[in-house]
Amino acid sequence: VAAFSVGAAWAEYPDKPVTIVVPFAAGGPTDKVARDLAEALRKPLNATIIIENVGGAGGTLGATKVSKAAPDGYTLLLHHIGMSTAPALYRNLQYKTLDDFEYLGLINEVPMTLISRPSLPANNYADMVKWLDANKGKINLANAGLGSASHLCGLLYMSTLKIDMTTVPYKGTGPAMTDLIGGQVDIMCDQTTNTTTQIDGGKVKAFAVTTPKRLGGSLAKLPTLDESGMKGFNVTIWHGMYAPKGTPKPVLEKINAALKAALKDAEFHKREEALGAVIVTDNRVNPAEHKKFVESEINKWTPVIKAAGQYAD
Ligand code: MLT
Repeated sequence: VAAFSVGAAWAEYPDKPVTIVVPFAAGGPTDKVARDLAEALRKPLNATIIIENVGGAGGTLGATKVSKAAPDGYTLLLHHIGMSTAPALYRNLQYKTLDDFEYLGLINEVPMTLISRPSLPANNYADMVKWLDANKGKINLANAGLGSASHLCGLLYMSTLKIDMTTVPYKGTGPAMTDLIGGQVDIMCDQTTNTTTQIDGGKVKAFAVTTPKRLGGSLAKLPTLDESGMKGFNVTIWHGMYAPKGTPKPVLEKINAALKAALKDAEFHKREEALGAVIVTDNRVNPAEHKKFVESEINKWTPVIKAAGQYAD
């Protein structure tokens, strides 16, 4: 009877709202993907979806929360590349990336853009570099904390350019963007899902993209860093979805099937693609594939981070 009632309980999943934890502040790129995805997930999952922003420490606070949540399918995590950089950066990380989560599937890939406050006196990439060179020691670079996408991109950019900048960490690039627009910080490298609207609206200046190829749409005019002298520069961000370790298999299968359906939603595609994101192909919305990919990303980023001597206690 006990076994029957347990089985029946999972058969009814979901029978209450499902929370997706976003490990960054509201209004930023991870939040944007999560809110758009929640719209598309509602129907296939047949549930109300609540977004909870748990920002701070480059996404590790939100990830910690989900790693310790009840493994019942009602608390999920939507995180980015930070899943694979945190193990090298945080000496006291409260979870094991590969052991403490169930992997549900990858979602998208997103390019990044190098942007500045609107008052920065440069209108093209070459002039921006001249300005950075002339202002060494005084430049503030905004990011979303150690291990965030903006941190990784800034780190790679600074080390390639060989100009040190003062990093200013926020709980997400949503609030960082507000300060950049207001002129409190100078530059930032952030995902197109957060920057395209601000660039198009003239709220910030944009100088380059981080992908090896130029982008389409309104950002097509921006040069790549690769063509601007940084041969091989390539930072592309990805997002994926996770559940706490031990979530029952039938529940994971339901979420994975709903995620697959949501990623085919035409409206979701339209919204994401208009902002430069590329939705992954169906075969990557797969737990084994997702986990293998995160493992390869850990192996790729760990030596870069160690060589840069970055860590947090
Ligand atoms: C990042 O830099 O990691 C992201 O922009 C985080 C966010 O969603 O705010």
